[in-house]
This record gives sequence, C-alpha cells and structure tokens, in this order.
Amino acid sequence: MIRSRFTGCGSYLPENVLSNDELAESVDTSDEWIRSRTGISERRIAAEGELTSDLAVRAGQKAMDAAGLTPDDIDLVIVATATPDETFPATATIVQAKLGIHRGCAFDVGAVCSGFVYALAVADNFIRTGQVASALVIGAETFSRIIDWSDRSTCILFGDGAGAVVLQASEGDGTIDDRGILKTSLRSDGRTHDLLYVDGGPSSTQSTGHLKMSGKEVFRHAVVNLTSIVRDVLCDPDLTGVEIDWLIPHQANRRILDSTAQKLGIPPSQVIVTIDKHANTSAASVPLALSQGISDGRVKTGDVILMEAMGGGFTWGACLARW
Ligand code: UT7
Repeated sequence: MIRSRFTGCGSYLPENVLSNDELAESVDTSDEWIRSRTGISERRIAAEGELTSDLAVRAGQKAMDAAGLTPDDIDLVIVATATPDETFPATATIVQAKLGIHRGCAFDVGAVCSGFVYALAVADNFIRTGQVASALVIGAETFSRIIDWSDRSTCILFGDGAGAVVLQASEGDGTIDDRGILKTSLRSDGRTHDLLYVDGGPSSTQSTGHLKMSGKEVFRHAVVNLTSIVRDVLCDPDLTGVEIDWLIPHQANRRILDSTAQKLGIPPSQVIVTIDKHANTSAASVPLALSQGISDGRVKTGDVILMEAMGGGFTWGACLARW
C-alpha cells in the first residue's frame, strides 16, 4: 500500500524575543504568574513587514532541503494558518510562488491550532489515493497580529513561527512497521464557537478582529478532547502492538500537555515540550516541536510519533506516524 513518508522537516522563528518581564511592563501580569499557569517564559514576534508567508517560506525551504528536493519535485503545497497574509489568495499560493514552485496546486487549511494535523491528514489522503507523489505541508502563524495586547488573559499565551514537513509517497507493507503516516483522526464541534474565536472577518465586520477566549472552558475541553482522539487512534485494531516513542502535542499550556500525557500514560521524558520558548504558535506549534525533536536528535528514523492538537471551532485531531 502507499504510505506518506516524512522525508524532511524544517522550522523558522522570528528573531525578536518577547520575554514575560517585557510583557509585564505593558499589562498587569508577572513572569511568575505566566510561568506557573502556562509554562511560557518567552515567545517570538514577527518583525514589522514580516508576513506569515515569509515565515512559511523559511520553514518550507528548510524542509525541502532536508528532503533533498527541488521546487520541481513538489506536487502540493498546503499552508495551515489562521493568520493569512491577505483575505485571498491563499497564503499557500504566495508561498508556492516565493519558493519557485510553478507546478501542482496549493491551498490553505483553516483549523486554527489543529491546522497542521488537519493538513497532514489532507496531504496523506492526496498521497494515498495517488493524486500527488509529494507534498509540502506547513504550519505558519503571526498570531501577534490578532492579539489584543491590552488583554492580559490572552496576550501572554501566543507567539509567531512556522514549521514544515515534506511527505512523499512510498510503498509500504500495510503494517505498523511501515515508515510514514499510520493513521489520522479528525474531529470538530461548531457549537463551541463562542469559547475561542476572533471577533472580526471580511464578511462580518470587514476588519481583522481580535482573539477572544474563555480560557478555563478551553482548557477543560482540551484535556478531554485530546485524550479521547488519541485513544480513538490507538484503538484501531490494525495498530495493535504499536509503541509510542514521542508525544508531540500542540503547545497551548504546559498544564494541558502534562495532564493529557498523564491520562494517556506517556511519561514526561517522552513528551516534546517547546512551550517555554515558543508559547502557543497555533498551527505552527506541532511542526516546530517536531523540528526541535529532530534537530536535537531525540526523534530518530523509525521512531513512532504521535502528534495531537486542539483549536478554535473546536477542531481537534491526531496523527500517528513512524518517522
Ligand atoms: O490553542 C488552544 C487555545 N488555548 C488554550 O488551550 C488555552 C487554555 N486555557 C489556559 O491555558 C488557561 O485557562 C489560562 C492560562 C488562559 C488561564 O489560566 P487559569 O488558571 O484558567 O486562570 P483563570 O482564567 O481562572 O484566572 C485566574 C486569575 C483571575 O483572577 P481572579 O479572578 O482570580 O482574581 C484572572 O483575572 O488570574 C487572573 N489572570 C492573570 N493574572 C496575572 C488572568 N490572566 C492573568 C495574567 N497575569 N496574565
């Protein structure tokens, strides 16, 4: 059977670092509160004029280089983002052009913080049906542009960045020993809209708007939904005996990460955590964490990785793969 194998990964963080202490100069908060309630110590902020597509291109180029591919080898570009450069065209088409990819197709996936996992599932389906042989899948965000910087309950949580992978079709035996994506599972429930949303948009207000969140409610749903989607993936009889080497979760809050891992029985030493340095970068957080795990040598060829995320909508999803 055809599997979508990961052949490259890359990431990019803007240079500008914003520490908790610096934030505490403009809103009523403290380094101690932010660290203890979220695990965040700093985040990156895109420079003026630095766009989501710019971050995506830097990460995407690194992923293509790691895979040893040229622009002519890429059939599909997907950018997962909730902070596109423009209302249209899709940021993915801007990235496609900037990377010199003049073939195939490109589109965005909008599932907010779950966007990268959703995009992996979409790309995997394109590859397994034989429609494309290679895909560049990117999560890229400039959440600093949709944050209300006077709202201490949200502005402390988010940061900017991008992460990317290359997926390529490869022949597998259809067993858990295959390298590549073994299973994806996606869910959403639009009834929870009011718990996490942006109060603007082209059709509603003709303005961009700002992020609004009921933090406690989102927290509660996150632990329940993430635990349940991971269990859903692992219950698949075709995956019997699979052992997870690395949990690579969406980095929303250190306490959500710890609580989910504990419920799943995954020891902290097998969880890749970047929230301290990156904060919540929405669709970029999972590929940024994956990239970190690969570059520091923790994630090795043949390791089983489990990626999971939840975001506005709510949307949530998981992807089990062998690197
Ligand atoms: O990517 C998916 C989307 N996001 C998430 O998954 C985030 C989920 N939620 C969270 O991470 C947490 O709910 C927060 C970090 C946002 C908040 O933590 P919490 O433990 O739920 O705090 P809280 O909202 O219950 O607030 C506790 C207190 C309140 O004061 P009072 O009413 O007890 O006097 C807040 O006003 O902390 C206050 N507070 C702050 N204090 C200092 C809220 N934000 C801050 C702040 N600094 N930045």
